[in-house]
Amino acid sequence: MGDTLIARHDDRRDIEPPALGGIDHVEWWVGNARAFSGFLASHFGFEIVAYAGPETGRRDRVSHVLQQGRIRFMVTGALTPDSPIAEHVRAHGDGVRDICFLVDDAEAAYDAALARGALPERPPSVDTDELGAIHHSAIRTYGETVHTFLDRSAYAGEFAPGFGPPLLPAVGGPPVGLTRFDHIVGNVEKGHLDQWVDYYEHVLGFDPLVHFDDDQISTEYSALMSTVVWNHDKVVLPINEPAEGRRKSQIEEYLDYYRSPGVQHMALHTPDIVAAVRAMRQRGVRFLTVPPEYYDEARERMAGVDLPWEALAELGIMVDRDADGHLLQIFTENLCDRPTVFFEIIQRAGAKGFGAGNFKALFEAIERAQAARGNL
Ligand code: FE2
Repeated sequence: MGDTLIARHDDRRDIEPPALGGIDHVEWWVGNARAFSGFLASHFGFEIVAYAGPETGRRDRVSHVLQQGRIRFMVTGALTPDSPIAEHVRAHGDGVRDICFLVDDAEAAYDAALARGALPERPPSVDTDELGAIHHSAIRTYGETVHTFLDRSAYAGEFAPGFGPPLLPAVGGPPVGLTRFDHIVGNVEKGHLDQWVDYYEHVLGFDPLVHFDDDQISTEYSALMSTVVWNHDKVVLPINEPAEGRRKSQIEEYLDYYRSPGVQHMALHTPDIVAAVRAMRQRGVRFLTVPPEYYDEARERMAGVDLPWEALAELGIMVDRDADGHLLQIFTENLCDRPTVFFEIIQRAGAKGFGAGNFKALFEAIERAQAARGNL
Protein backbone atom coordinates (compact mmCIF):
# COMPACT_ATOMS: atom_id res chain seq x y z
CA MET A 1 0.00 0.00 0.00
CA GLY A 2 1.95 3.01 -1.23
CA ASP A 3 1.24 6.64 -1.86
CA THR A 4 -0.06 5.77 -5.32
CA LEU A 5 -3.32 4.69 -3.68
CA ILE A 6 -4.67 8.20 -3.89
CA ALA A 7 -5.16 9.15 -7.51
CA ARG A 8 -4.67 12.87 -8.04
CA HIS A 9 -7.25 14.73 -10.06
CA ASP A 10 -6.69 18.43 -10.38
CA ASP A 11 -10.34 19.00 -11.11
CA ARG A 12 -11.69 16.91 -8.24
CA ARG A 13 -12.56 19.97 -6.14
CA ASP A 14 -15.09 21.00 -8.82
CA ILE A 15 -17.11 17.83 -8.31
CA GLU A 16 -19.39 17.74 -5.29
CA PRO A 17 -18.62 14.82 -2.96
CA PRO A 18 -21.31 12.15 -2.47
CA ALA A 19 -23.97 13.30 0.02
CA LEU A 20 -24.14 10.64 2.74
CA GLY A 21 -27.35 10.08 4.66
CA GLY A 22 -25.56 8.25 7.48
CA ILE A 23 -24.47 4.65 8.00
CA ASP A 24 -27.03 2.19 6.60
CA HIS A 25 -25.33 -0.84 8.11
CA VAL A 26 -21.96 -2.41 8.86
CA GLU A 27 -21.21 -5.81 7.35
CA TRP A 28 -19.09 -8.39 9.16
CA TRP A 29 -17.39 -11.25 7.31
CA VAL A 30 -17.01 -14.10 9.78
CA GLY A 31 -16.26 -17.80 9.96
CA ASN A 32 -19.63 -18.78 11.40
CA ALA A 33 -22.39 -16.22 10.76
CA ARG A 34 -24.98 -18.18 12.72
CA ALA A 35 -22.83 -18.28 15.87
CA PHE A 36 -21.66 -14.66 15.62
CA SER A 37 -25.22 -13.42 15.02
CA GLY A 38 -26.37 -15.40 18.04
CA PHE A 39 -23.58 -13.80 20.09
CA LEU A 40 -24.61 -10.27 19.07
CA ALA A 41 -28.23 -11.09 19.87
CA SER A 42 -27.70 -12.84 23.20
CA HIS A 43 -24.89 -10.66 24.60
CA PHE A 44 -25.63 -7.23 23.12
CA GLY A 45 -29.41 -7.40 22.75
CA PHE A 46 -29.65 -7.12 18.97
CA GLU A 47 -32.85 -8.22 17.28
CA ILE A 48 -32.36 -10.54 14.31
CA VAL A 49 -34.55 -9.09 11.55
CA ALA A 50 -33.70 -10.72 8.22
CA TYR A 51 -31.84 -13.62 6.64
CA ALA A 52 -30.53 -14.63 3.24
CA GLY A 53 -29.08 -18.04 2.34
CA PRO A 54 -29.90 -21.22 0.47
CA GLU A 55 -33.48 -21.11 1.84
CA THR A 56 -33.99 -17.75 0.09
CA GLY A 57 -32.16 -18.71 -3.10
CA ARG A 58 -28.62 -17.57 -2.28
CA ARG A 59 -26.13 -20.34 -2.93
CA ASP A 60 -22.71 -18.94 -1.99
CA ARG A 61 -23.22 -17.20 1.37
CA VAL A 62 -25.53 -16.66 4.32
CA SER A 63 -26.27 -13.29 5.90
CA HIS A 64 -28.14 -12.48 9.09
CA VAL A 65 -29.29 -8.87 9.59
CA LEU A 66 -29.45 -7.56 13.16
CA GLN A 67 -30.83 -4.31 14.44
CA GLN A 68 -30.94 -2.26 17.65
CA GLY A 69 -32.16 1.34 17.47
CA ARG A 70 -30.60 2.70 14.28
CA ILE A 71 -27.60 0.35 14.52
CA ARG A 72 -27.79 -2.34 11.88
CA PHE A 73 -25.30 -5.16 11.28
CA MET A 74 -25.18 -7.67 8.47
CA VAL A 75 -23.24 -10.80 9.47
CA THR A 76 -22.10 -12.85 6.49
CA GLY A 77 -20.40 -16.23 6.20
CA ALA A 78 -19.19 -18.28 3.21
CA LEU A 79 -20.72 -21.54 1.98
CA THR A 80 -17.78 -22.50 -0.27
CA PRO A 81 -14.01 -22.67 0.29
CA ASP A 82 -13.22 -20.50 -2.77
CA SER A 83 -15.47 -17.68 -1.54
CA PRO A 84 -13.89 -14.21 -1.10
CA ILE A 85 -15.50 -14.26 2.36
CA ALA A 86 -13.62 -17.43 3.30
CA GLU A 87 -10.43 -15.86 1.93
CA HIS A 88 -11.06 -12.71 4.00
CA VAL A 89 -11.64 -14.75 7.16
CA ARG A 90 -8.49 -16.81 6.53
CA ALA A 91 -6.42 -13.62 6.22
CA HIS A 92 -8.02 -11.41 8.86
CA GLY A 93 -10.13 -13.60 11.12
CA ASP A 94 -13.64 -12.35 11.77
CA GLY A 95 -13.85 -8.65 10.97
CA VAL A 96 -15.62 -5.70 9.44
CA ARG A 97 -15.76 -5.79 5.65
CA ASP A 98 -18.07 -2.90 4.81
CA ILE A 99 -19.15 0.40 6.35
CA CYS A 100 -22.17 1.02 4.13
CA PHE A 101 -23.39 4.59 3.56
CA LEU A 102 -26.93 5.54 2.67
CA VAL A 103 -27.13 7.75 -0.44
CA ASP A 104 -29.85 9.17 -2.73
CA ASP A 105 -28.17 7.95 -5.92
CA ALA A 106 -25.66 5.08 -5.84
CA GLU A 107 -24.47 5.72 -9.39
CA ALA A 108 -23.94 9.46 -8.90
CA ALA A 109 -22.17 8.79 -5.58
CA TYR A 110 -19.85 6.28 -7.24
CA ASP A 111 -19.10 8.57 -10.19
CA ALA A 112 -18.41 11.53 -7.90
CA ALA A 113 -16.19 9.48 -5.58
CA LEU A 114 -14.16 8.08 -8.49
CA ALA A 115 -13.80 11.50 -10.09
CA ARG A 116 -12.46 12.71 -6.73
CA GLY A 117 -9.87 9.92 -6.59
CA ALA A 118 -11.64 6.94 -4.98
CA LEU A 119 -10.37 3.41 -5.49
CA PRO A 120 -13.17 1.44 -7.19
CA GLU A 121 -14.53 -1.73 -5.59
CA ARG A 122 -17.89 -2.51 -7.25
CA PRO A 123 -19.53 -0.55 -10.10
CA PRO A 124 -23.20 0.47 -9.74
CA SER A 125 -25.71 -2.35 -9.92
CA VAL A 126 -29.27 -3.05 -8.86
CA ASP A 127 -30.98 -5.90 -6.97
CA THR A 128 -34.72 -6.29 -7.44
CA ASP A 129 -37.62 -8.37 -6.22
CA GLU A 130 -41.39 -7.89 -6.03
CA LEU A 131 -40.92 -5.27 -3.27
CA GLY A 132 -38.74 -2.96 -5.34
CA ALA A 133 -35.09 -2.22 -6.04
CA ILE A 134 -31.88 -1.55 -4.09
CA HIS A 135 -29.23 0.38 -6.02
CA HIS A 136 -25.65 0.02 -4.80
CA SER A 137 -21.98 0.54 -5.66
CA ALA A 138 -18.77 0.46 -3.61
CA ILE A 139 -15.34 2.03 -3.21
CA ARG A 140 -12.33 0.79 -1.28
CA THR A 141 -10.81 2.24 1.85
CA TYR A 142 -7.97 1.13 4.18
CA GLY A 143 -6.89 -2.52 3.97
CA GLU A 144 -9.59 -4.74 2.49
CA THR A 145 -12.36 -2.61 3.98
CA VAL A 146 -14.93 -1.08 1.62
CA HIS A 147 -17.65 1.57 1.64
CA THR A 148 -20.85 0.61 -0.14
CA PHE A 149 -23.10 3.43 -1.37
CA LEU A 150 -26.66 2.16 -0.97
CA ASP A 151 -29.96 3.69 -2.13
CA ARG A 152 -32.99 1.96 -0.63
CA SER A 153 -35.54 4.66 -1.57
CA ALA A 154 -37.19 2.37 -4.18
CA TYR A 155 -37.44 -0.63 -1.83
CA ALA A 156 -40.43 -1.46 0.39
CA GLY A 157 -39.11 -4.65 2.03
CA GLU A 158 -37.42 -5.19 5.41
CA PHE A 159 -33.82 -5.11 4.18
CA ALA A 160 -32.98 -6.06 0.59
CA PRO A 161 -33.96 -8.39 -2.26
CA GLY A 162 -33.03 -11.99 -1.54
CA PHE A 163 -33.65 -11.58 2.21
CA GLY A 164 -36.47 -13.28 4.07
CA PRO A 165 -37.60 -13.44 7.70
CA PRO A 166 -34.97 -14.25 10.32
CA LEU A 167 -33.80 -17.86 10.53
CA LEU A 168 -32.74 -17.55 14.18
CA PRO A 169 -35.26 -17.12 16.99
CA ALA A 170 -35.48 -14.05 19.23
CA VAL A 171 -33.22 -14.19 22.30
CA GLY A 172 -34.47 -13.13 25.74
CA GLY A 173 -32.65 -10.95 28.26
CA PRO A 174 -32.75 -7.50 29.83
CA PRO A 175 -33.16 -4.65 27.31
CA VAL A 176 -29.84 -2.97 26.40
CA GLY A 177 -30.87 0.26 24.66
CA LEU A 178 -28.12 0.95 22.11
CA THR A 179 -29.35 3.58 19.66
CA ARG A 180 -26.87 4.54 16.91
CA PHE A 181 -23.28 4.41 15.66
CA ASP A 182 -21.32 7.19 17.36
CA HIS A 183 -18.00 6.66 15.55
CA ILE A 184 -16.14 3.85 13.76
CA VAL A 185 -12.36 3.66 14.10
CA GLY A 186 -9.83 2.28 11.63
CA ASN A 187 -6.22 1.27 12.27
CA VAL A 188 -3.66 1.89 9.50
CA GLU A 189 0.07 1.21 9.21
CA LYS A 190 2.69 3.50 10.66
CA GLY A 191 3.29 6.50 8.42
CA HIS A 192 -0.01 6.11 6.55
CA LEU A 193 -2.36 8.15 8.73
CA ASP A 194 -2.11 11.37 6.70
CA GLN A 195 -2.63 9.51 3.44
CA TRP A 196 -5.95 8.09 4.65
CA VAL A 197 -7.04 11.41 6.14
CA ASP A 198 -6.36 12.87 2.66
CA TYR A 199 -8.37 10.07 1.08
CA TYR A 200 -11.48 10.92 3.12
CA GLU A 201 -11.00 14.64 2.51
CA HIS A 202 -10.52 14.26 -1.23
CA VAL A 203 -12.89 11.43 -2.04
CA LEU A 204 -15.80 12.02 0.35
CA GLY A 205 -15.28 15.71 1.21
CA PHE A 206 -14.78 14.91 4.91
CA ASP A 207 -12.87 17.30 7.20
CA PRO A 208 -10.52 16.59 10.08
CA LEU A 209 -12.40 17.13 13.35
CA VAL A 210 -9.56 16.62 15.83
CA HIS A 211 -6.03 15.23 15.88
CA PHE A 212 -4.32 13.47 18.80
CA ASP A 213 -0.53 13.31 18.76
CA ASP A 214 1.49 10.53 20.29
CA ASP A 215 2.42 12.72 23.27
CA GLN A 216 -1.32 12.86 24.08
CA ILE A 217 -1.92 9.16 23.46
CA SER A 218 0.90 7.35 25.13
CA THR A 219 1.64 5.31 28.20
CA GLU A 220 4.90 4.13 29.67
CA TYR A 221 4.99 1.47 26.96
CA SER A 222 3.16 2.26 23.78
CA ALA A 223 1.82 5.12 21.71
CA LEU A 224 -0.44 5.98 18.81
CA MET A 225 -1.56 8.93 16.75
CA SER A 226 -5.12 9.56 15.67
CA THR A 227 -7.05 11.92 13.40
CA VAL A 228 -10.83 12.02 13.41
CA VAL A 229 -12.49 12.77 10.04
CA TRP A 230 -16.20 13.45 9.64
CA ASN A 231 -18.83 14.57 7.15
CA HIS A 232 -20.06 17.39 9.46
CA ASP A 233 -23.06 15.23 10.28
CA LYS A 234 -23.60 11.60 11.31
CA VAL A 235 -20.48 9.94 9.95
CA VAL A 236 -17.46 10.18 12.27
CA LEU A 237 -14.44 8.05 11.42
CA PRO A 238 -11.30 8.29 13.58
CA ILE A 239 -8.13 6.76 12.07
CA ASN A 240 -5.19 5.52 14.19
CA GLU A 241 -1.58 4.73 13.36
CA PRO A 242 1.03 3.24 15.70
CA ALA A 243 3.76 5.51 17.09
CA GLU A 244 7.19 4.77 18.55
CA GLY A 245 7.05 3.49 22.12
CA ARG A 246 9.10 1.35 24.49
CA ARG A 247 7.04 -1.71 23.65
CA LYS A 248 4.65 -2.82 20.91
CA SER A 249 1.80 -0.38 20.30
CA GLN A 250 -1.74 -1.78 20.62
CA ILE A 251 -2.18 -0.67 16.99
CA GLU A 252 0.78 -2.81 15.92
CA GLU A 253 -0.70 -5.78 17.75
CA TYR A 254 -3.92 -5.22 15.79
CA LEU A 255 -2.06 -4.96 12.47
CA ASP A 256 -0.03 -8.10 13.25
CA TYR A 257 -3.17 -10.16 13.86
CA TYR A 258 -5.55 -8.57 11.34
CA ARG A 259 -2.71 -8.76 8.80
CA SER A 260 -3.73 -5.42 7.28
CA PRO A 261 -5.38 -2.12 8.18
CA GLY A 262 -9.02 -2.48 9.19
CA VAL A 263 -11.78 -1.49 11.60
CA GLN A 264 -10.60 -1.48 15.21
CA HIS A 265 -13.67 -0.44 17.16
CA MET A 266 -17.22 0.72 16.72
CA ALA A 267 -18.63 3.11 19.31
CA LEU A 268 -22.34 2.48 19.93
CA HIS A 269 -24.37 5.22 21.59
CA THR A 270 -26.87 4.75 24.40
CA PRO A 271 -28.89 7.35 26.34
CA ASP A 272 -28.43 5.31 29.57
CA ILE A 273 -25.03 3.68 29.83
CA VAL A 274 -25.55 2.42 33.41
CA ALA A 275 -28.63 0.41 32.38
CA ALA A 276 -26.99 -0.68 29.10
CA VAL A 277 -23.78 -1.95 30.74
CA ARG A 278 -25.70 -3.59 33.58
CA ALA A 279 -27.82 -5.45 31.01
CA MET A 280 -24.82 -6.44 28.88
CA ARG A 281 -22.90 -7.70 31.93
CA GLN A 282 -25.93 -9.82 32.88
CA ARG A 283 -25.96 -11.11 29.31
CA GLY A 284 -22.30 -12.17 29.60
CA VAL A 285 -20.35 -9.34 27.89
CA ARG A 286 -16.81 -8.91 29.19
CA PHE A 287 -15.44 -5.36 29.46
CA LEU A 288 -11.98 -3.91 30.05
CA THR A 289 -11.63 -2.87 33.67
CA VAL A 290 -10.04 0.17 35.27
CA PRO A 291 -8.40 0.09 38.71
CA PRO A 292 -10.37 1.52 41.70
CA GLU A 293 -7.91 4.47 41.94
CA TYR A 294 -9.23 5.64 38.59
CA TYR A 295 -12.40 6.82 40.33
CA ASP A 296 -10.56 8.94 42.94
CA GLU A 297 -8.85 10.83 40.11
CA ALA A 298 -12.04 10.95 38.02
CA ARG A 299 -14.12 12.44 40.84
CA GLU A 300 -11.63 15.35 41.06
CA ARG A 301 -11.54 15.77 37.29
CA MET A 302 -15.35 15.80 37.11
CA ALA A 303 -15.92 18.11 40.11
CA GLY A 304 -19.30 19.83 39.84
CA VAL A 305 -20.87 17.16 37.58
CA ASP A 306 -23.54 15.04 39.28
CA LEU A 307 -22.79 11.41 38.41
CA PRO A 308 -23.85 8.00 39.83
CA TRP A 309 -20.32 7.25 41.05
CA GLU A 310 -21.15 4.00 42.84
CA ALA A 311 -22.78 2.50 39.76
CA LEU A 312 -19.97 3.74 37.50
CA ALA A 313 -17.30 2.14 39.72
CA GLU A 314 -19.32 -1.08 40.11
CA LEU A 315 -19.73 -1.42 36.33
CA GLY A 316 -16.30 -0.06 35.28
CA ILE A 317 -17.66 2.90 33.29
CA MET A 318 -15.20 5.76 32.59
CA VAL A 319 -15.98 9.48 32.46
CA ASP A 320 -14.52 12.51 30.69
CA ARG A 321 -15.43 16.14 30.09
CA ASP A 322 -14.68 18.80 27.52
CA ALA A 323 -15.77 22.40 26.91
CA ASP A 324 -19.24 21.27 25.80
CA GLY A 325 -20.18 18.75 28.48
CA HIS A 326 -19.26 15.26 29.61
CA LEU A 327 -19.35 11.71 28.31
CA LEU A 328 -19.38 8.23 29.79
CA GLN A 329 -17.73 5.29 28.02
CA ILE A 330 -16.61 1.69 28.40
CA PHE A 331 -14.81 -0.74 26.09
CA THR A 332 -15.49 -4.44 25.57
CA GLU A 333 -12.79 -7.04 25.35
CA ASN A 334 -12.04 -8.17 21.79
CA LEU A 335 -15.14 -9.66 20.20
CA CYS A 336 -13.41 -12.35 18.11
CA ASP A 337 -10.58 -14.84 18.56
CA ARG A 338 -7.84 -12.51 17.32
CA PRO A 339 -7.07 -9.34 19.33
CA THR A 340 -8.58 -7.04 16.72
CA VAL A 341 -12.09 -5.58 16.80
CA PHE A 342 -14.12 -4.48 19.84
CA PHE A 343 -17.05 -2.24 20.81
CA GLU A 344 -17.08 0.99 22.76
CA ILE A 345 -20.34 1.91 24.51
CA ILE A 346 -20.77 5.68 24.88
CA GLN A 347 -23.28 8.10 26.41
CA ARG A 348 -22.85 11.78 25.60
CA ALA A 349 -24.08 14.65 27.75
CA GLY A 350 -23.04 17.51 25.49
CA ALA A 351 -19.41 16.44 25.11
CA LYS A 352 -18.23 16.11 21.50
CA GLY A 353 -14.84 14.50 22.28
CA PHE A 354 -13.62 10.93 22.39
CA GLY A 355 -12.57 10.55 26.03
CA ALA A 356 -9.05 12.01 25.82
CA GLY A 357 -9.01 12.21 29.63
CA ASN A 358 -9.37 8.41 29.70
CA PHE A 359 -6.77 7.55 27.07
CA LYS A 360 -4.09 6.75 29.64
CA ALA A 361 -6.35 4.58 31.85
CA LEU A 362 -7.84 2.91 28.80
CA PHE A 363 -4.52 2.13 27.16
CA GLU A 364 -3.14 0.78 30.39
CA ALA A 365 -6.17 -1.53 30.53
CA ILE A 366 -5.54 -2.59 26.91
CA GLU A 367 -1.86 -3.17 27.72
CA ARG A 368 -2.75 -5.44 30.66
CA ALA A 369 -4.73 -7.56 28.19
CA GLN A 370 -1.93 -7.31 25.60
CA ALA A 371 0.62 -8.48 28.23
CA ALA A 372 -1.64 -11.43 29.12
CA ARG A 373 -1.45 -12.45 25.45
CA GLY A 374 2.34 -12.13 25.46
CA ASN A 375 2.22 -9.32 22.93
CA LEU A 376 3.46 -6.29 24.86
FE1 FE2 B 1 -13.75 5.45 20.37
